[in-house]
Amino acid sequence: MPPPPRPQPDPLDRALDLAVTKCLRDAARLPAFPHVTRGGDWLTSEHARWTGGFFVGMLWLAAELRGEPGLRATARGWARRLAPRAPDRTTHDMGFLFEPSCVRGHRIAPDPELRALAVTAARALASRFVPAGRYIPAWEPSEGAEYAGVAIVDTVMNLPLLSWAAAETGEARLHEVARATAATIRAQHLRPDGSTFHVVGHDPRGGEVVRRGTHQGAHDGSCWTRGQAWTLYGLARWIAVDPADEVREAARRTADYFLGQLGERVIPPWDFDPAAAATGPVDSAAGAIAASGLLELARRSGEARYATAAERIVRGLVATCVDFDAPGRPGLLRHGTVDYPRRSGVDESLIYGDHYLMEALVKLRRPSLWGILGCV
Ligand code: GLY
Repeated sequence: MPPPPRPQPDPLDRALDLAVTKCLRDAARLPAFPHVTRGGDWLTSEHARWTGGFFVGMLWLAAELRGEPGLRATARGWARRLAPRAPDRTTHDMGFLFEPSCVRGHRIAPDPELRALAVTAARALASRFVPAGRYIPAWEPSEGAEYAGVAIVDTVMNLPLLSWAAAETGEARLHEVARATAATIRAQHLRPDGSTFHVVGHDPRGGEVVRRGTHQGAHDGSCWTRGQAWTLYGLARWIAVDPADEVREAARRTADYFLGQLGERVIPPWDFDPAAAATGPVDSAAGAIAASGLLELARRSGEARYATAAERIVRGLVATCVDFDAPGRPGLLRHGTVDYPRRSGVDESLIYGDHYLMEALVKLRRPSLWGILGCV
């Protein structure tokens, strides 16, 4: 009798293995932080843009999945390269930069240097808070006069860093800034149907809302898919900080909108506007972010349907966007879109897509590691 066929590994385990292999190879060969692929390899930046933390976060996960102590040193070395950015007061992106890198590293093994970098980053972020409008501006007017007073919904993902740093240091103001900003985002960016305005413009002096619209989406009335994914994930995490009914309801509403618009698809279109979706590219990164966020929401709400939806998306992304036949190809998750209106980074791998796919895979296949992932 022929031997029974060997059981095939679950594609999610294969994808997680590939994520580990790819990021460790990149750590050994790349001169600086990978951001987005172009022409078949990563564009890199020693400045780390807004994305350097995601690569470091993948390296920490790789170290824990492999269980090789030497790999922690690799991740730590890359985390320390973010040090010049810790006092940066010019951007809202400090959670993206310092949570997966320094907080995650400090969670894995207490590390005063990484903790100090993350606390410095939180203070820099809080310094941007505008009391008149109770919001954190995303960008700087020096980058363009139109950026004055502009808040973006993505900021909701950066708020747990503030609450974490408040708990670490006893600086209550950091938490107050986070709470006020979270409330403003819920009040100003969410539409009644659960979709979101990417951008809310404020009068920089008085703080009044002067515009609601988009920066990376199709038009002011549309819902930019990745912004919606950041929102559902950010609100799901915010439940850990503030479990109030209105926070839970907002997290569910944004998640339900995302899932309702996604329908049977696994890769989200770049924008949920039907005409834009029909003619434009997809954004796999939005799918990975949403899936990881839905797993968080399932955990925080106790509603298994969100975990079921997340696993469906992850399995679909692994089946359609992970190229198992080209393990040497840079990038894990294909078919991401950075900014379609500006035709920037279309149909590429984005380091945040890779990071959140890996994170979702960890939540599904190695949930014991959940506790090290971030601030909450
Ligand atoms: N601003 C973050 C993003 O492009 O998703």
